[in-house]
Amino acid sequence: MNATPRMTLLRADITTLDVDAIVNAANTSLLGGGGVDGAIHRAAGPDLLAECRTIGGCPTGEARITGGYRLPARYVIHTVGPVWHGGSKGEPALLAACYRNSLALAAAHGVRRIAFPAISCGVYGYPPAQAAEIAVRESAAHLTRHDLPEQVIFTAFDAAVYAAYEAALQAHGA
Ligand code: APR
Repeated sequence: MNATPRMTLLRADITTLDVDAIVNAANTSLLGGGGVDGAIHRAAGPDLLAECRTIGGCPTGEARITGGYRLPARYVIHTVGPVWHGGSKGEPALLAACYRNSLALAAAHGVRRIAFPAISCGVYGYPPAQAAEIAVRESAAHLTRHDLPEQVIFTAFDAAVYAAYEAALQAHGA
């Protein structure tokens, strides 16, 4: 029995994590921004933006993979979360797709440990409790069907998001 939980929660700056892939909460241009996007580009260095330019953007709900450059992580998986408009504009389905597509891309690249920030829970205004429930549900669904990634690390940057993920993981029985 694998004693190590396959979903864990960490309060940290995601750019410091020595994992195979970190996920970026990007925008559709993939040309950088503020929040975790800004932090990842600052830590990875200019080569990350140079590679992103070759991709030509990413629709909301989808994911693209690049190198990690100066980051400890080998890969960055860029996904574009939905902007919160009250929850009846397809936001839940799009956020779920972010996690599903990021995990599928990770598995396809042999990623064993992946760290996610709280996609859409900053500038994009998604309520953390609802976002965390989707993150945990979609990640659990992937992990029951695939051996990779071996571990998903939810990385909270502030206490409110940490509490939301803690509650979602407990509710899931993780
Ligand atoms: N490590 C981990 N989490 C972080 C970090 C970090 N270094 N910096 C910020 N966060 C957290 C925020 O506190 C929030 O909980 O990441 C979560 C996502 O917030 P944002 O980065 O604002 O991302 P999002 O809400 O998805 O908005 C995306 O913001 O930065 C722009 O280019 C980005 O246009 C896009 C939009």
